[in-house]
Amino acid sequence: PSSILTDTFGREHTYLRISLTERCNLRCTYCMPADGIALSPKSHIMTYEEIYTIAKEFVDNGVTKIRLTGGEPLVRKDVGLIMEKLATLPVELAITTNGVIVDKFIEQFKKIGLRKINVSLDSLNNDKNTAITRRDYFTKVYNNIQLLIKEGFDVKVNCVLMKGFNEHEIIDFIELTKTHPLQIRFIEFMPFDGNKWNLDKLVSLEDILKEVYSHYDVNSFVRLKDAPNDTAKNYQIKNYKGSFAVISSVTNPFCDSCNRIRLTANGQLKNCLFSTSESDLLTPLREGKSIATVIQKAVLAKKKIRSGMETLEQFKDPDSHNNRSMIAIGG
Ligand code: GTP
Ligand code: 5AD
Ligand code: SF4
Repeated sequence: PSSILTDTFGREHTYLRISLTERCNLRCTYCMPADGIALSPKSHIMTYEEIYTIAKEFVDNGVTKIRLTGGEPLVRKDVGLIMEKLATLPVELAITTNGVIVDKFIEQFKKIGLRKINVSLDSLNNDKNTAITRRDYFTKVYNNIQLLIKEGFDVKVNCVLMKGFNEHEIIDFIELTKTHPLQIRFIEFMPFDGNKWNLDKLVSLEDILKEVYSHYDVNSFVRLKDAPNDTAKNYQIKNYKGSFAVISSVTNPFCDSCNRIRLTANGQLKNCLFSTSESDLLTPLREGKSIATVIQKAVLAKKKIRSGMETLEQFKDPDSHNNRSMIAIGG
């Protein structure tokens, strides 16, 4: 392989997702069990120096993009310090947030050159939002999205679709892109520990496109060119300012072009979103040992598709999932 970040299928892992915390100020049903998760003891959570050291090792080996995730990354007390430090590395920095307190960070994002912000918003209806997040912040998040756009950030809105819950809002979300230069990304609901996933709740890429076809004239929308290694298939209604996309990890996985690797808040490396085993980077780091060999071993162990669950049949079998809750992975 050309680098320690090249896997046996020739995929180069140039995009590192770092989860900063397992905590969150929301309680989304698709992301965590109703009674919460057992948090890692504080001593097992990477310090900001450790995050920097590990990130630098990845950047030295070819990573060009780092996305901060969580939990909610912005609730971590030293998130400002972490961002400032990571911004000194030659990488593109991005963040995925629930948007609740994102307004407080606008000046810092500008200062360090962080432009790409993905915000989760699953419904345009206040009560539905409260039902899914178990908190009452719809207006705050909606206003913050407007604010981010106004301030010139590259904003994507992540919307996890679930049958009988928000599937009727597909067109409302797309209509938002008529006047707003943002990207709405509809995400197929994925199974994680404690989120009561089942295939019947899934709104698929096919379902979404059916809805779009039934509402818009075929000539009025276009399939856009996807960014390299994009998770999403991108579309646009002609003359609309924004665009929309679908992330179809369940019905149409995009693992062939996967360039992602994940670091959890407690310093474990996941070679796939669905990996059932993890590689401990924090312990060797604390013992003063090299982490490069651990990283390479994890990358070489990466399976072709969804950590080995290649077919939908395998993927929908709950026994094949032995993963964390999404809140402890970071998406
Ligand atoms: P961009 O950098 O803007 O392309 O965003 P992203 O899609 O990499 O990240 P984001 O945190 O916004 O995630 C959006 C959705 O895509 C979430 O549901 C993630 O779980 C999912 N996602 C992100 N990366 C992967 C991946 O490598 N594999 C799969 N299956 N899903 C992913
Ligand atoms: N299925 C699909 N997407 C999910 N996310 C969280 N949990 C799930 C799930 N079970 C999304 C959130 C967030 C992103 C990081 O992951 O919408 O925007
Ligand atoms: Fe990569 Fe795993 Fe996501 Fe596939 S499921 S794109 S291999 S992280």
